[in-house]
Amino acid sequence: MRVYFDYNATTPLAPDVTEAVVRATRDVFGNASSVHHFGQQAKAAMDDARSAVAALVNGDPSEIVFTSGGTESDNFAIRGAADALEPTGRRHLIASAVEHEAVLNTLRSLARKGWRTTLLPVDHTGIVSVDRLREAITGDTAVVSVMHANNEIGTIQPIADIAAIAHEHGALMHTDAVQTVGKIPVDVRALGADLLSLSAHKFNGPKGAGVLWIKRGTRMQPIVTGGKHERNRRAGTENVPAIAGLGVAAQLAAGKLSGEGARIAALRDRLEAGILGGIAGTAVNGAVDARVPNTTNISFERVEAESLLIALDLEGIAVSTGSACSSGTLEPSHVLRAMGLPTHRTQSSLRFSLGMFSTAEEVDRVVEVLPRLVEKLRGLTRKTVTA
Ligand SMILES: Cc1ncc(COP(=O)(O)O)c(C=O)c1O
Repeated sequence: MRVYFDYNATTPLAPDVTEAVVRATRDVFGNASSVHHFGQQAKAAMDDARSAVAALVNGDPSEIVFTSGGTESDNFAIRGAADALEPTGRRHLIASAVEHEAVLNTLRSLARKGWRTTLLPVDHTGIVSVDRLREAITGDTAVVSVMHANNEIGTIQPIADIAAIAHEHGALMHTDAVQTVGKIPVDVRALGADLLSLSAHKFNGPKGAGVLWIKRGTRMQPIVTGGKHERNRRAGTENVPAIAGLGVAAQLAAGKLSGEGARIAALRDRLEAGILGGIAGTAVNGAVDARVPNTTNISFERVEAESLLIALDLEGIAVSTGSACSSGTLEPSHVLRAMGLPTHRTQSSLRFSLGMFSTAEEVDRVVEVLPRLVEKLRGLTRKTVTA
């Protein structure tokens, strides 16, 4: 039995999505910019996807810009807004310390070009300090970028409050909703955002397809320049099969958000209770209530996370030590560090993230296997220490 509990890294395609991608790859090969039948067929497939994504986030189809995924959407949001606002004299960017690298490294890149940047601290549950935002923001701030939910711990941020403060100072509000779209209801109007990033492969869609939602009237410069695609906002012949898959994934997500969220939350809670109850020296990292339903991040005292991850993989169980980008290195998670966790705890934490195909049997298998592996690794640590 193989268990995949790494849905925050990526998800398998929903069967209907596979169908849509295959069908579009085979039958809809036209260039969506062409005026003839084949082009119009491709354009129609994109229009359907645009409407489906807009409906999922309560946006307007005209506000949807297709991109190559979450990373490009985050880059576009920040660089595009920075370029558009620079002539107004604004030269300051704010983000939280727990953002994905797609945001953090974009800020670092702009800092090298002379932009002032501020990273907001978070509390021990990973929630951004709204007071520190009030202190940091000025009339010079162009963009405030705070993620809707964190990929490592699942903590949900108070985006509407943050957006209100950003707007009081004339700044744009961007939220990276890559880990919430398709998992919990996301309403761009209720969040009060100007820019929102999402990525298809995080909710059973194909890789390499994403969206930047841009509120109508928002000043933006394109970062991919060329032809007049996407209303002059993102050049390049569109990846119609992936976009069609994204549309179907959005439709599926919209149709079963509430029921599926509750089912997955119940599985996650069963997993969490099983681990905390069955293994001494374990604790959950991050907020327990303000959290997406599919994620739990747990530290295992006196266990090196990488060793436990490998031991689990040998048992056919796939989990993660945090963001996919930082796995494979022993760098402690910047998210857990920003939460003030001591080093021994940042290095002993695993992320379990569930999804569409997760079952109670899989949860029970993990709960059954883990105590033995943890016991073994703790035994090895004891021996190393006494040797
Ligand atoms: C919060 C967050 N933002 C952005 C990304 C990047 O998305 P993509 O893989 O589509 O480039 C990820 C993916 O790990 C993510 O979790």
